[in-house]
Amino acid sequence: MSRIVYLNGDYLPEEEAKISIFDRSFLMADGVYEVTSVLDGKLIDFAGHAKRLERSLAELDMQKPDAFDDLLEIHRELVRRNDINEGMIYLQVSRGSAGDRDFVYPDASVKPTLVLFTQNKPGLADNPKAREGFKIISIEDQRWGRRDIKTTQLLYPSMGKMMAKAAGCDDAWLVEDGHVTEGTSNNAYIVKGDTIITRHLSNDILHGITRAAVLRFAREAQMKVEERAFTIKEAQQADEAFVTSASTFVMPVVEIDGAAIGSGAPGPVAGRLRDIYLEESRKAAV
Ligand code: PDD
Repeated sequence: MSRIVYLNGDYLPEEEAKISIFDRSFLMADGVYEVTSVLDGKLIDFAGHAKRLERSLAELDMQKPDAFDDLLEIHRELVRRNDINEGMIYLQVSRGSAGDRDFVYPDASVKPTLVLFTQNKPGLADNPKAREGFKIISIEDQRWGRRDIKTTQLLYPSMGKMMAKAAGCDDAWLVEDGHVTEGTSNNAYIVKGDTIITRHLSNDILHGITRAAVLRFAREAQMKVEERAFTIKEAQQADEAFVTSASTFVMPVVEIDGAAIGSGAPGPVAGRLRDIYLEESRKAAV
């Protein structure tokens, strides 16, 4: 069955939603995006995603779409029309189309393109992978320097996922100057003793909405949190490792570059944080 998607003010069957070949997200990757998860038919952390979208747009001098203030209602309408109980909503804003190719940004009369679509994922919360854990490879971080802006320049993360797949693994951690930045599409953590370690916020990583929530829940549960960079070697010697994102929530990592982490099975801290995150996020969902 075809999805109903949203494009610039209209709800349309996916086959009827069309954008210009001159759209700057297509020609220049001149677009930003958000992925919001849906549990029990409700949006997880919507306010955080909307706030980060606003920041991404501002950092790139991109106009806010006219419908910016209606985004919550548009998300909800798509959930309703597509009958989503568990899944994701993808949102993208591009700088639009000036009707030709030009490196220079178009003037303000060119309106941004706003697209949203749903991804139906029954079983997203009860993902069997969370009981097995991810196997990770490490690769050099070759992305641009403004990873705090959630842009649609996803070729390198995509290449990283392909390298992981070719190695029989689930994902890749990106390494710059000897230290892990983050995963291809998630934030990276290790656990040593009773301390959760994850890279500090800067332009080098995406400021994950799940990261913010998980660290808050960890602190509320009296767990120790250290925000600093770590190496692959330190990760391999850690007691546990995990990643967070809107699509994986808290996902244990059991192997990095062939070395088993801790016992080689998902660890208790990751398991506990996953349970707390899912429980608290469901309660706060809108
Ligand atoms: N990715 N780091 C990167 C590079 C990401 O692409 C993502 C999210 C995260 C986690 O952010 P959040 O917790 O806000 O989802 C960290 C989304 C899920 C994606 O591209 O599909």
